[in-house]
Amino acid sequence: MQIGAVERVRLGLFPTPLVELKALSDFLGGPRIFMKRDDLNGLGMGGNKLRKLEYAMADAIAQGATTVITTGAVQSNHCRLTAAAANKLGMSCQLVLSGKEPKIATGNLLLDRILGVDAIHYVPRLTPEEKETTGHDPVEEKVSEIEEQLRSNGEVPYYIPNGCRSLHGALGYAGCVREVVEQLHGLNLAPDYFVSACGSVSTQTGLMLGSELYCQAQAKVIGISVSRDQDYITKKLTASVAEAHAFLGLEGLPAAEIIAYDDYIGEGYGIPTPEMKEAVSLVARKEGIFLDPVYTGKAMAGLIDLIRHGELRKGENVIFIHTGGVPGMFAEAQVASLQF
Ligand SMILES: Cc1ncc(COP(=O)(O)O)c(C=O)c1O
Repeated sequence: MQIGAVERVRLGLFPTPLVELKALSDFLGGPRIFMKRDDLNGLGMGGNKLRKLEYAMADAIAQGATTVITTGAVQSNHCRLTAAAANKLGMSCQLVLSGKEPKIATGNLLLDRILGVDAIHYVPRLTPEEKETTGHDPVEEKVSEIEEQLRSNGEVPYYIPNGCRSLHGALGYAGCVREVVEQLHGLNLAPDYFVSACGSVSTQTGLMLGSELYCQAQAKVIGISVSRDQDYITKKLTASVAEAHAFLGLEGLPAAEIIAYDDYIGEGYGIPTPEMKEAVSLVARKEGIFLDPVYTGKAMAGLIDLIRHGELRKGENVIFIHTGGVPGMFAEAQVASLQF
């Protein structure tokens, strides 16, 4: 199947701008750095999830869904964008958030409230190990309960997992690579590297698929993990790329190499690191662009480090994907750590 033939509903403003970060590139003395501004894609304050939601919501519509249910952390960008997409398409939305309800909603949660999400359910946040030992997944249990209740009221629920299904991410981000290839072609250039934050891995899956389809796999895709170790990401990417190949019936394409770093996570997901703070302030001061502390700040810290260690060099073209997330900067937990 061709990607263009897969059902998709328009949610964002595409193509997003591709801008050269000249001052940052000069400062670092390495490759030319371009930023793909997926934070500016138009709906619900933007971000990478919109490209994936265009496929997920099309599937929801095809299944006759009346309510979408999704899940994430209390400060989830994915939940905010799913709620915005549901509003635009006239559907209801319920969120299952892992963590405690804060006294005051800030950052993404504040936006979820303004978007008027139908219900926000808070469940205990368990580590994967805790889920395994207790045999309980509070998110799955809550989602099943909501689905059952909606069905008994004659509604049709549609569940979108945290970060979207990797197939929807693959389709959405292959499209992003196609845009970049066209945009760089206008400058007589081609991408050597894509660099992106990596959480659920679906963005990276799509960038790899896009590199295979539109760059003969010659553009390398570097994922900077914000939470899981390299081993976990490698296994998940192997499976998700294979799923995308099977869905599209692709065989014999040059395969994109899996490149994932887990060196920039620090103490854990969402916990600030000095390198993230340096990256956030450097990009703001050199380019006037804001990164977020949880995803793009850590991904940029990784890119800066790779340049400083000579892994990415002069003469190469690096595309940094700004996957959004800036509302998370105004979350109560982040504000304290971002005092410069
Ligand atoms: C702003 C931002 N950047 C990057 C990511 C990671 O993307 P993925 O889950 O596709 O790996 C997320 C995921 O939630 C995000 O919100």
